[in-house]
Amino acid sequence: MKKYYLTTPIYYVNAAPHIGHAYTTMVADLIKRFKQMQGYHAVITTGSDEHGVNVERSAQRAGKSPKEFCDAIAAEFQNQWKRLGLAVDHFQRTTDPAHAKVVQDLFDRCLKNGFIYKGSYSGQYCIFDNLYVNDAKPGDPCPECGRPTETVTEENFFFKLSAFQDKLLELYEKEPLFIQPDTRRNEVLAFVKAGLNDLSITRTSIKWGIPVEGHAPHVFYVWFDALTAYKTAVENEGLWPADLHLIGKEILRFHAVFWPAFLMAAGYPLPSRIFAHGWLLFEESKMSKSRGNIVRADPIHEVMGMDALRYFLLREVVFGQDGNFSYDALIGRYNSDLANGLGNLASRTLTMINQYRKGVIPVGVENPIAETARDTIATVQQSFDRFEFSKGLETVWSLISTVDKFIVEIGRASCRERV
Ligand code: MSP
Repeated sequence: MKKYYLTTPIYYVNAAPHIGHAYTTMVADLIKRFKQMQGYHAVITTGSDEHGVNVERSAQRAGKSPKEFCDAIAAEFQNQWKRLGLAVDHFQRTTDPAHAKVVQDLFDRCLKNGFIYKGSYSGQYCIFDNLYVNDAKPGDPCPECGRPTETVTEENFFFKLSAFQDKLLELYEKEPLFIQPDTRRNEVLAFVKAGLNDLSITRTSIKWGIPVEGHAPHVFYVWFDALTAYKTAVENEGLWPADLHLIGKEILRFHAVFWPAFLMAAGYPLPSRIFAHGWLLFEESKMSKSRGNIVRADPIHEVMGMDALRYFLLREVVFGQDGNFSYDALIGRYNSDLANGLGNLASRTLTMINQYRKGVIPVGVENPIAETARDTIATVQQSFDRFEFSKGLETVWSLISTVDKFIVEIGRASCRERV
C-alpha cells in the first residue's frame, strides 16, 4: 500500500483551540479520507508547540509551571480533535523526550556537514512570533504582528541559510508544485531571490526550550524545534518524508525556506508539497483575543454537526484564499444546500425506491443520470487532488440539481402516460 503522510501545524499552546485551528485540521482529515478512498495508507500528524518565552510568560501569568500549563492546553487540543471526530493519528508534543533526540540529531548532522557555526547576535526580536527582525531599531514594530520588538544580545549558534539560496531556487524550479498555491510560491521565490541571511538557531536568554547537548545554557530556537516535530512523530514508522504540509499562509516562510534548508543540510529527504491556505476572517478581520471575535467549533458542532461545518467552510471559501466566516452564511447554506438541496433529494429518492422498487436499489440501470454521476465522481476527484474543494463541491451540487430535474421530468412523463 502506498503511504500518504500529511501534517497540520503543531499549534501554540498559549491559546485554546478555535475555528481557525479546526479549519486546517478538518481539511487534513478530509484529505486523509480522500486518500484512503484512493487506496493509500494515509497518516496525519498534528500536535502542540510548547517551548519559548511566550509560553513561559503565559504560564507565569496563570501561576503555573510551563509544563503544567502546556499539559492542560495540549490536552484541550487533543480533546478538541476527538470531540470533532477528526481522525488525527499522531499528536506530537514538543516537550516529548523522544522529540528532543530528533532535534539534537538534526542539529548534529547540520553541524557535522559544516552548516552551523557559533556567532553573536544583537538585534530586535519579537517574542510573539519568535522572530528576529532584520534592520529594525529598538522599539520598532514586528512586521508580522505589529507589537513592539525587544532588543536582545546573545551568543548563538547560526545556521548557514545563506548557503542555500541557489539550492532552494533550484528546488522550487524543479518541483513547481512544492509550494502551493502559485501566489504563495511567487512570494517565496521573491523572498529567496532577494538573498538569505544566516539564521540564529539557539538561544541563551530562554530557559523553556530543548537544551543543546554539551552547550548549556543554549536551547534550540523554537522553529528549529517545532518543524522537526513532523519528523519525530513518524520516526518509528519510516513514513518520512511528508507528502504534504498543510499550513496557514503566515507560517509559509518557515516551512518553505527554513525547513527544506535544515533538511538539505542534514542530508534528509524533503517533503513533497507545502500548501498554505488563507485566513478565516470574522466580520472581515482576523480573529484575535484582543478583538474578542474568536469563533469556536464546539457549539457549531453541537448544533449542526461537523459535516455541516466542514461543508460550509469548504464550499464558502476558495481553499487557499482568505474567506469570511459568518453565522448567517452558515445557517443560509445549511438550509438551502444541505436541508433543501441534498436532504430533499435524498428523501425523495428513498421514498421512490421504497414505493416503486420494494426498497431495493436497482442495479445496472443505464440512463443519462448514471453517466453524469460517473463524470461527477471523476471531476470531484480531480478537483480534490488539486485541493480545489469548493469547485469539487459545486460539481456535486450541479449533479443534485440535474437529478432533481430528472425526477420532475419522469414524474411528468408518468402522469402523461396515466392520462
Ligand atoms: N506553532 C506554530 C506552528 C508550528 S508548525 C511547525 C503556529 N501555531 S498557531 O497556533 O499560531 O497556529 C497557526 C495555524 O493555525 C495557522 O497556520 C493555520 O493553520 C491555523 N489558523 C489559526 N488561525 C487561523 C485563521 N483565522 N484562519 C485560518 N487558519 C488559522 O503558528
